[in-house]
Order: sequence, then structure tokens, then C-alpha cells
Amino acid sequence: MADAAANLVVGNLVAFPTETVYGLGADACNAAAVARIYSVKSRPADHPLIVHVESMDAIGDWASDVPEYAISLARDFWPGPMTLIVKRSGLAADFVTGGQDTVGIRVPAHPVALGLLEAFTRVGGKGVAAPSANRFGNVSPTTAQAVSDELSDNLSDSDQILDGGACDVGVESTIIDCTADAPRILRPGAITEEMIEHSTGIHPLNTEGLAIRVSGSLESHYSPIATVVLDQPPIAGQGFIAMADVESAVGVVRLAAPTTHEEFARVLYSALRAGDEQGLNTVVVVQPAGNGIAIAIRDRLIRASN
Ligand code: TXA
Ligand code: MG
Repeated sequence: MADAAANLVVGNLVAFPTETVYGLGADACNAAAVARIYSVKSRPADHPLIVHVESMDAIGDWASDVPEYAISLARDFWPGPMTLIVKRSGLAADFVTGGQDTVGIRVPAHPVALGLLEAFTRVGGKGVAAPSANRFGNVSPTTAQAVSDELSDNLSDSDQILDGGACDVGVESTIIDCTADAPRILRPGAITEEMIEHSTGIHPLNTEGLAIRVSGSLESHYSPIATVVLDQPPIAGQGFIAMADVESAVGVVRLAAPTTHEEFARVLYSALRAGDEQGLNTVVVVQPAGNGIAIAIRDRLIRASN
């Protein structure tokens, strides 16, 4: 951890596991290091990055105005799979926020991520800017091997990939805009509408079904090489992802058969990657029904299929 933190200090990149997906980290105060994130990912420069911090105490460093309901969310769900968008402080430079007057902040719940952030804080670091560690538009990586497959061609010898095993949650954090009177979900995730309402006492504004407001978000994203088709009967030679109680016909390549929605989220991206590794042209997915994390799964599937 000390070595990885020192590596961040000198401006190198460190990919690290979180409970959601792997992130590609840089010192959030180092313009040149952050610029390398964009070039390694081939990401457009106006897409803001999430700043990862060691504890909610650091919110005061990065934010200038934090509503009471956001404090409540931070207390209840950090460390955890939730990003809060708040008005930025002077520390949050344009090169991190994509020029917006807000900043995204998250305390991840993974021992390796927290160990790295603690070590980085000890040597004077303020926060680690990190997008998902995939090339722009691709499926987020949920293992260190997937990070390496995505990015190793573009990383330098001094950059690092920390291996913390497979991610527990498997889909990206819930992003909540905390700049208005009520919280608004910009990207659904494991922290659900019900949980937000329970924590804050305010019914969150939800954007499911509308164009997601996350700045720069595109309709087509989270896409594997294979064409993703939703809710159709698969035919022989096609990949297939559905809950375990949905049977697959002879010749269909079953990529995942989760028994719970949590497991569906956890295995989804690795199953899509496995389809690509097997050279499948098409992967059929039966969308999980209902609320909770199923909303986040459907959000990613609709984008993957666009
Ligand atoms: O689970 C996660 O959130 C992972 C792990 C590594 O923490 N990170 C992640 O980062 O998914 P990324 O960059 O792949 O997706 C973050 C999204 C982007 O669509 C970005 O536009 C949005 O968050 N975002 C970041 N800061 C924002 C801001 N100030 N205002 C609006 N959207 C913001
Ligand atoms: Mg991403």
C-alpha cells in the first residue's frame, strides 16, 4: 500500500479494486496524472471523474456546500457503493470535474481501496480520481485480469494494477446528485431508491426511463464486442445470461445462471467478457424484473444493447 501510494504521489497510475468495479486511479490534485487517465482510457476530456477519499471527513476538502440529506447518506452508506455529487470546493479543479461546478465523491468499501487511500492520505494525498478501469465505452472490469486485458497496452511500466480478487457488487456505484432540495439518482446502483428515502426521509427524484443526467453519459455504453440482445429466446451458438430458473435450449452457450439479483449484478460483466473471449457474435440476456439492484442491472443492459 505504501509503495502504491508513493507511486500515486509521483504521478503514476494505480488501478485498484473497489466493491463495485475496478478503478484507474491518479492523484486528484495532479493535472498531468489525471490527464493520463483520459489518454489511457481514450475518454473524452469533458467527462468528470469521481474523487475517492478515505473517509467522509474529507468531504469538507472537496465540497463547498453539502446539504443535510447528503450528510445523512454519507453516514449511512459510506464506505459503500454510492457517489455523491456536490458543489465543489477550490480543490476540485476543472481537470477533475470536466469544468463543472460540482464534484463526485465516494468512499469505497474494499479493504485494498481503503488501504491505498489511507496510505495516500498519510503521505499528504487528498483524494484519488478514478473512473472505471476500462477503455471508454467498454464493460467495466470486475477482476484485475480484466483491467489488464483492457488497459495493459496503454499503461506504462511504472503504473500498477492492484489485485483484490473479484468485485462483490459488480455494477458501478449509485450516483446521487445532491445539489438540489431533494436527492436525484443519476445512475442506479446497489444503493437503491428505497434506501435513499429511508436514510434521508425524502423521496428521491429518479431518472430511470429518462435519459440519465450523468454528464456526458451516452446511451451506448458498458458494451462488450458481442451484440447484446434483450429478452428473446436464444438460438444455438448464441450466448445466454438469465436467472437460473430460466432454462436454455440445446446448443446455447450459457454464460451465467445466477440465483439472486445480487449474484446477477456480481457476475454480469465477467459473463459478457467470457462471451467475447469465446468469440460469440450475440449474447441474449433476460432482464431481471422488479426493484432493488435489478434497476441498475436493467440500466446497464439497455445501454449495452444500444
Ligand atoms: O463504482 C463506481 O462508481 C466506479 C468505481 C471505480 O468507483 N467508478 C466509476 O467511474 O464508475 P466512471 O468514471 O466510469 O463513471 C462515473 C460517472 C461518469 O458517467 C461521470 O460522468 C459521472 O460519474 N460523474 C462524475 N462526476 C460528476 C459530476 N460532478 N457531475 C455529474 N456526473 C459526474
Ligand atoms: Mg465507467
